Formats: sequence, structure tokens, C-alpha cells
Amino acid sequence: MHKDVESILVSEKELQEIVERLAADIDRDYEGKDWLMVGVLKGSILFMADLMKAMKTDYPIDFVVVSSYADGTESTGRVNVLKDISQSIVGKELLIVEDIIDSGNTLNFLVKYFLAKGASSVKIVTLFDKPDRRKVEVPVEYVGKVIPDAFIVGYGLDYAEKYRTLPYVGILKPEVYSNQ
Ligand code: IMP
Ligand code: MG
Repeated sequence: MHKDVESILVSEKELQEIVERLAADIDRDYEGKDWLMVGVLKGSILFMADLMKAMKTDYPIDFVVVSSYADGTESTGRVNVLKDISQSIVGKELLIVEDIIDSGNTLNFLVKYFLAKGASSVKIVTLFDKPDRRKVEVPVEYVGKVIPDAFIVGYGLDYAEKYRTLPYVGILKPEVYSNQ
């Protein structure tokens, strides 16, 4: 285990089971549809890649990069689009792939943003949900795992751009971010 990780919250094996369950649900619901999977970089990268491999259907993908954290552990509430989607989404059904929903600011912004760009529907799959921290209600169709209010890292999730490459998800030791 990494020295900055307090405990492992979700093992590699459990992550795989979660991804397989979500992949089967999405395969079933989107079969035969004309839709686009949109990953929110960078946190969703490993989750989205594993989801794509676990799914049986074929579909196009795209990415957006947004930022609201500025290297801290609290959302600033302002969401900036640092890299926009690279195609027209007019009339398309979108499924946003996110690593974690916390305050809800990011996904609340993105759903409105994509609908304003002409998407016919926008749904969400998130690997993790921290409902205790919600500031804005966002309907989420697919949730991997509901977790307690702790700052987690690994499997794509970072703290100040670190720990993304860990193959499991761990709770970060509070002393790592409390004295910054
Ligand atoms: P929200 O806008 O507050 O819902 O935050 C969503 C974004 O904050 C996610 O896409 C993550 O990038 C980041 N985030 C929230 N909680 C955590 C966490 O526990 N670990 C790592 N990143 C997090
Ligand atoms: Mg993110």
C-alpha cells in the first residue's frame, strides 16, 4: 500500500466487479441506440477504459476536460471547460462517464452545457458517489458505489495530480492535505 494511503476502500477485485455490473446495465439500456460516451478527464480515464472493455456493444467516444478544484480537496463551485467536446452533439443521446460525484457542481454544469449544445438526452454513469457532500441535486442513472465522506485517490482519482496510477482506491491520509 502507498505510504500516503490510510486504508484501501475498494480493492482491484471489487473495482472489476463494479465495472462488470455497470457495463451489463449500460449494454442492456443502450442496445440499438445512436449514442455517444463522453468521459470527463482526467479522473475517469481508467474507469472508462475498463468499462469500454467490459461492454459488448460498439459506440463512439469523446472527452471533455473540466476543472473546479484548483489542486485542493473542495470544489470552488465554478466549473471551467478546459477542453471541449470535439464533435456536434445535436440530437444525440449522451452518457457522461465521471469518476466521482461530490458537491454535484461539475455534473450539474455539464448536463446543462450539453443540453444547451443540442443533445437530445444526457445521462450519467459515475464510479463513486459521496451523497453526504451534495450541494446541487443531480440525477444519476448509474452508480458504481456509494462511499462515505472521505477524500479518495487511485484508479484515476488524484490529489494535486498524484496517486492516479494506484490500481486500487484508497483513503488519503488527512495529514497529506491538511497542512497545505
Ligand atoms: P463535484 O463537482 O464537487 O461533484 O466534484 C467532482 C470532481 O471532483 C470529480 O470529478 C473529481 O475529479 C473531484 N473529486 C471529488 N471528490 C474527490 C475525491 O474524493 N478524490 C479525488 N477527486 C475527487
Ligand atoms: Mg473529475
